[in-house]
Amino acid sequence: MRYLPLILVVICSFATVHTCPSLCTCISDTISCNNRGLTIVPSFSSADMSGVRVLDLSHNNFTSLPVNAFPNSHFETLKLDHNRLRTLPNGTFQGVASDIKNIDLSNNELLTLPDALAALDHLISLNVSNNYRGSSDINLPNNVMRALGDTLEEFTFGSIKQTDWPRTLNHFQNLHRLEITSLHPNLIILPPTGFHGFETTLVELSIHDTNLLTVPIGISKLRNLLTLNYDNNRNTGDSGILLQSFPTSSNSKLSTLSLKGDSLTIFPLVLKYLQKLTKFSIDNNPLDFLSETSVEGLHTLRELTIRNCSLERIPAALATIAALGSIDFSFNAIETVEKRDLQGFTNIQKLTLSNMPLKYISRDSLAPLHSLQVLELNNTALTEVPLAINFTDNLKNVSIGHNRIDCMCENMVWLFHKAVECNPTGVHGFQVIGECDTIHATVEEYLTNFVQRCPGYKEICNIMPYG
Ligand SMILES: *[C@@H]1O[C@H](CO)[C@@H](O)[C@H](O)[C@H]1NC(C)=O
Ligand SMILES: *[C@@H]1O[C@H](CO)[C@@H](O)[C@H](O)[C@H]1NC(C)=O
Ligand SMILES: *[C@@H]1O[C@H](CO)[C@@H](O)[C@H](O)[C@H]1NC(C)=O
Ligand SMILES: *[C@@H]1O[C@H](CO)[C@@H](O)[C@H](O)[C@H]1NC(C)=O
Ligand SMILES: *[C@@H]1O[C@H](CO)[C@@H](O)[C@H](O)[C@H]1NC(C)=O
Ligand SMILES: *[C@@H]1O[C@H](CO)[C@@H](O)[C@H](O)[C@H]1NC(C)=O
Ligand SMILES: *[C@@H]1O[C@H](CO)[C@@H](O)[C@H](O)[C@H]1NC(C)=O
Repeated sequence: MRYLPLILVVICSFATVHTCPSLCTCISDTISCNNRGLTIVPSFSSADMSGVRVLDLSHNNFTSLPVNAFPNSHFETLKLDHNRLRTLPNGTFQGVASDIKNIDLSNNELLTLPDALAALDHLISLNVSNNYRGSSDINLPNNVMRALGDTLEEFTFGSIKQTDWPRTLNHFQNLHRLEITSLHPNLIILPPTGFHGFETTLVELSIHDTNLLTVPIGISKLRNLLTLNYDNNRNTGDSGILLQSFPTSSNSKLSTLSLKGDSLTIFPLVLKYLQKLTKFSIDNNPLDFLSETSVEGLHTLRELTIRNCSLERIPAALATIAALGSIDFSFNAIETVEKRDLQGFTNIQKLTLSNMPLKYISRDSLAPLHSLQVLELNNTALTEVPLAINFTDNLKNVSIGHNRIDCMCENMVWLFHKAVECNPTGVHGFQVIGECDTIHATVEEYLTNFVQRCPGYKEICNIMPYG
């Protein structure tokens, strides 16, 4: 009995340490109070905030927060997105102002950037996209933008009500990453000086879901830009990809470019002037015939995705991109791969031909691909593992999932020979991931469990006596 008080003390302090505000869940460094219909901030007075980094109050019903909304708390990341916030009073962040590094206020109803944010003197990342009420969009006032400019490195803004380009962006002297999520349909051209202030610091720019007609000219001045994502800007066609919009000087650093979901019918001519370009995506564009002139000069390009571009054949012109190591043709209309279609793709290591009505791959088509290691053929109309695989020399992984593969002796003995190399211990030459349609087994299981009973297996593996 005399140990009881001690036990109680231990239990009580244990309980205190693990108290989580009611309605919230606390897992590792995150307190999640999202999606609870909250209109007032839960009390953290009994919560142990040591080790907490993220407070998630997103998807609730806050319209405002009180002064000193987070007493006794500490966190770096505050998620307040998807509420109905209209104001934040001065002093909202009393006590936590120097802790907060990231704040997400997207999808609220703020019509001006609250003064309260100016107190966040260590803020690195701010998201205020999709804040509007009626036809009014959020105003980004000078005083708050200037105060944030000393530390802010990542900024996201934009909504379908955003009619003007915010000139106060030029206070962001240390911006590394800028994301523009959408703009008013009438905003079709950005001012050439739009990126003043962070022309030397910006490394990543994303502009998506706007009605812009052209890639903004101001981008050409972003000297240290590494990544440009300019996606789902449906009004930008071939003539909107202006040469003078890109940083094309010899010391340009741009290495990743995405032009998905625009309205391109050709490969933009600007590509060959981007001397560091290694990754390019042109998915979801209505591409026409690809001529050799449109892809020539792409000496540095290593990864290309050209998904969902209405291609019916593999464009031979792409073979002229000598450094190309990976290419993704998913979601095109390609039905056949003919003998010479892949000739010239000599450096390809990964080839993706998934999600298409592909029904035939010529037996000789893969042989020239001496570097090919990974082949993806998921969700096609193929009914056999293509025999072309037998004539590759470096293939390591084949995915052939979600196809209706007939696993039968006639078409699987060669695969066994190729993949398992007739080694009774089953040392795999490469991996084939997929399922049989004719029998309840994966392709690998068929190879290990069934092929040894096939006629012809012993001959092919030279196991005496035959038959
Ligand atoms: C949040 O507010 C909306 C609008 O007032 C209301 O319809 C909804 O029921 C509220 N949600 C919760 C969970 O309280
Ligand atoms: C909030 O602070 C700003 C500047 O720090 C000041 O201009 C403004 O008047 C304050 N608002 C209120 C309601 O006190
Ligand atoms: C900002 O918020 C929007 C809308 O919620 C979201 O799509 C986007 O991914 C966010 N961006 C960042 C960098 O957090
Ligand atoms: C293909 O692109 C079109 C637009 O060109 C888009 O509407 C569609 O959703 C895309 N499909 C897939 C599977 O990505
Ligand atoms: C598979 O390739 C091997 C070696 O190149 C060859 O001997 C064999 O005949 C091929 N199998 C079939 C079914 O073509
Ligand atoms: C092949 O697949 C295996 C297992 O899924 C994986 O560990 C390996 O990294 C893959 N190899 C290549 C070259 O992708
Ligand atoms: C392809 O299918 C395999 C087998 O079903 C699956 O494991 C793999 O994740 C799929 N790959 C892709 C990229 O969908």
